[in-house]
Amino acid sequence: MNFIDVQEVSYTYADGFTALRQVNLAIGKGERIAVVGPNGAGKSTLFQLLNGLLKPTSGKVYVDGLLVEKKNLYQIRRKIGMVFQDSDDQLFNSTVRQEIAYGLINSHITGEELERTIAWALDAANIRDLAEKSAHNLSGGEKKRVALASVLAMKPDVLVLDEPTAALDPQGVQSFLGLLNKINKEMGITLIFSSHDTDIIPLLSDRLYLLNAGKIVISGTTAEVFAQRDILRHNSLRLPRVAHLVEILGNDGCLPQGDLPLTISQARRSLRKALGKLES
Ligand SMILES: Nc1ncnc2c1ncn2[C@@H]1O[C@H](COP(=O)(O)OP(=O)(O)O)[C@@H](O)[C@H]1O
Ligand SMILES: [Mg+2]
Repeated sequence: MNFIDVQEVSYTYADGFTALRQVNLAIGKGERIAVVGPNGAGKSTLFQLLNGLLKPTSGKVYVDGLLVEKKNLYQIRRKIGMVFQDSDDQLFNSTVRQEIAYGLINSHITGEELERTIAWALDAANIRDLAEKSAHNLSGGEKKRVALASVLAMKPDVLVLDEPTAALDPQGVQSFLGLLNKINKEMGITLIFSSHDTDIIPLLSDRLYLLNAGKIVISGTTAEVFAQRDILRHNSLRLPRVAHLVEILGNDGCLPQGDLPLTISQARRSLRKALGKLES
């Protein structure tokens, strides 16, 4: 049984614009899923349907077997934690500690359990030293971690992250990706994120859905989808830079043609292999 099932979902905004058309997703527990597509593809709209912020115009969304509808929203929102694209939309308490405490107190968690959970979330997001700071004065990367900590404190099964790296500097991107992968691996939390940054997608996804103009164009493992170079290009996406370099070297006859590496570590392996062959 899938943890998240999106079945034939379409969504039309009040002005008559149809942002999603008959979208199907099936996501299992513990998976790392990327929803990939150019601006305006419908990624943020899709994410808002997962926890009932929007209601499908047609079709159904199920989370852990529960239909996403008004009477199930309380339970569903405990299972799905949303990390918004703009952290300022998410942070509204005065200190980081209060930010994390807010959802917990609303869920009637008090006393020692409250303190223990706050400490756990601060540690999990690696922001223990920020606890007494004002969230509004932090850097973009720090704000992202605070938003993540406040969501993690609620112990969700799934983290939904809308363009999680868009506002981060390069070092912030690296460390946030590392943190998300650790959370997925050690806590088994399912990750669903959106992005159009193809350098990042392979570092954080096992499987992906390519969305364009409200429709799923293709889905499959990250390697399967990135092997469809024409489809990427037709949907305003490019190869990861490292894959593009290896593709060019292959076309130049400097490297054997074949599967393209998607990350630096994959490229390192295949280049070492090719160079080893050249030397011997
Ligand atoms: N409130 C709204 N009313 C009408 N159209 C909207 C609204 N919000 C988004 N859209 C449109 O829906 C499409 C998908 O938007 P969105 O889900 O934000 O895409 P993405 O996150 O992939 O960039 C876009 O064309 C956008 O202009
Ligand atoms: Mg968006």
